[in-house]
Amino acid sequence: MTPPSSLPRRRTGLAAVLAALVLLAGMTPAQAEYGDVVINNYSDAAGMRPVIFPHWFHRVRFRCKVCHADLGFQFKAGGNQINMLKIIDGQFCGACHNGEIAWSAENCNLCHSAKPGTLTQVHESTLQKLSPAPVKK
Ligand code: HEC
Ligand code: HEC
Ligand code: HEC
Repeated sequence: MTPPSSLPRRRTGLAAVLAALVLLAGMTPAQAEYGDVVINNYSDAAGMRPVIFPHWFHRVRFRCKVCHADLGFQFKAGGNQINMLKIIDGQFCGACHNGEIAWSAENCNLCHSAKPGTLTQVHESTLQKLSPAPVKK
């Protein structure tokens, strides 16, 4: 059966877009993306919101080596003993968040932005943010 000749182009385009969306949604749970890291070794106990470190945001701006070799960040969520004394002293996040390379440590809420009680973990990759995240247990 042949569709009316005025429509097929548009229909095909729409179908392709829908197929792409379905594919994207279907792929999301399987993506091995390093998502944002929540760091909460000390924050909750200190009455601060846990820290969200947007890994992808940083990875597209710096080579892995900058942080994981030169600055000494361990490859493990929560695997570094980070505190504000060290940050203000220019270690860890403070190597860049010093008001020169990036905004400074006075901007508490930009880093301490997780919901209270969120555990140290890797979560919410960029892709997960584009579609509903699967419920994790
Ligand atoms: C550039 C990011 C960043 C900024 C800005 C920042 N922090 Fe932190 N902060 C961290 C990280 C990372 C940790 C370690 C989190 C953990 O393990 O719970 C931390 C830990 C802490 C802790 C617990 C450890 C300690 O040092 O006592 C407190 C309290 C704290 N921050 C307060 C603050 C306050 C107050 C401000 C603003 C004046 C601030 N932070 C700004 C990243 C930041
Ligand atoms: C701007 C600094 C920075 C850059 C650049 C960076 N990372 Fe990270 N990475 C971190 C921080 C901070 C953590 C979390 C450490 C913590 O929680 O104490 C982390 C955590 C990790 C983890 C552990 C995640 C887990 O499952 O526990 C891996 C793996 C990792 N990074 C790989 C990479 C790779 C690969 C690159 C380059 C493509 C890269 N990182 C670039 C800062 C960076
Ligand atoms: C190698 C340098 C470097 C290190 C180390 C680093 N940052 Fe950043 N960060 C940046 C730069 C550059 C920006 C962008 C600043 C801007 O937009 O003005 C940024 C932006 C951010 C943002 C805002 C992201 C957004 O969506 O705008 C957060 C939150 C953040 N950093 C948290 C952290 C935390 C927490 C740590 C330590 C665990 C850390 N950063 C370590 C360089 C760094």
